[in-house]
Amino acid sequence: MRGQFYVIGVGPGDPELLTLKAVRLLEKCPVWFVPKAHQNGESTALSILAGTVATHGKEIMKLHFPMKKIKMGEEPDAEVQAAWQTASRAILHKLDQGWDVAFPTLGDPAIYSTGFYVCDTLLKAAPQLSISIVPGVSSIGASAAAAGQPLCLGDNRLVVIPATFENGRLRETLQSFDTVVLMKVHRVMDKVVTLLTELDLLDKAVLVERSSQRDQRVRRDLTVAAREELHYFSTVIVRKT
Ligand SMILES: C[S@@+](CC[C@H](N)C(=O)[O-])C[C@H]1O[C@@H](n2cnc3c(N)ncnc32)[C@H](O)[C@@H]1O
Repeated sequence: MRGQFYVIGVGPGDPELLTLKAVRLLEKCPVWFVPKAHQNGESTALSILAGTVATHGKEIMKLHFPMKKIKMGEEPDAEVQAAWQTASRAILHKLDQGWDVAFPTLGDPAIYSTGFYVCDTLLKAAPQLSISIVPGVSSIGASAAAAGQPLCLGDNRLVVIPATFENGRLRETLQSFDTVVLMKVHRVMDKVVTLLTELDLLDKAVLVERSSQRDQRVRRDLTVAAREELHYFSTVIVRKT
């Protein structure tokens, strides 16, 4: 019988933010496919699990997913599609051998995660496949907690966008919503700061680097931060109210 495929959110970094369900299912699955962003780099999801979930006796395979912009409704980059296909073939092979397979992913799988692209590719190849999505603590919630502020209250409207959006859409979004969460800000902080200054929102913004991790930083000095090299795990929350 074919195995079960689990996409498991492992939270934003602090192993204590792993859910009991994530730990149980990871312990149960003999095969893990772990994503990594750089060919020679490490898997963040795997490093979150190290020391908390025993890996002894597990078959752990690292899959490289290049970090390229994906726009909905547009054909994804060929290299990205090839990575999804490679992942899908390797996962399906293990499932067809009857193994349960886990795909741990940073934060929550429903938020900008490779996990869902892999699921789509798998389901095209094997429509009857059984897939379970296990939610995790998102870096959005963890960043708000680190900053000690809510994301939304009362009738507030909250939006989450990648900061890599074109300036026009970013401006419109910042003008329209009460709280804006900007993800993937690390390479575009200068652009974000310019826009926030123009919209008189700079003092409403907080930058959270590596939320829930040992070297977490909560920063209000966005102008200074924009001149520094930021970690990929950086999120800006703009809360107007
Ligand atoms: C591809 S998205 C993955 C989001 C993830 N699925 C989640 O639920 O948090 C990557 C972006 O999430 C944010 N991020 C992930 N981990 C973070 C952390 N520990 N602290 C702050 N931001 C983080 C950053 O904006 C980063 O560029």
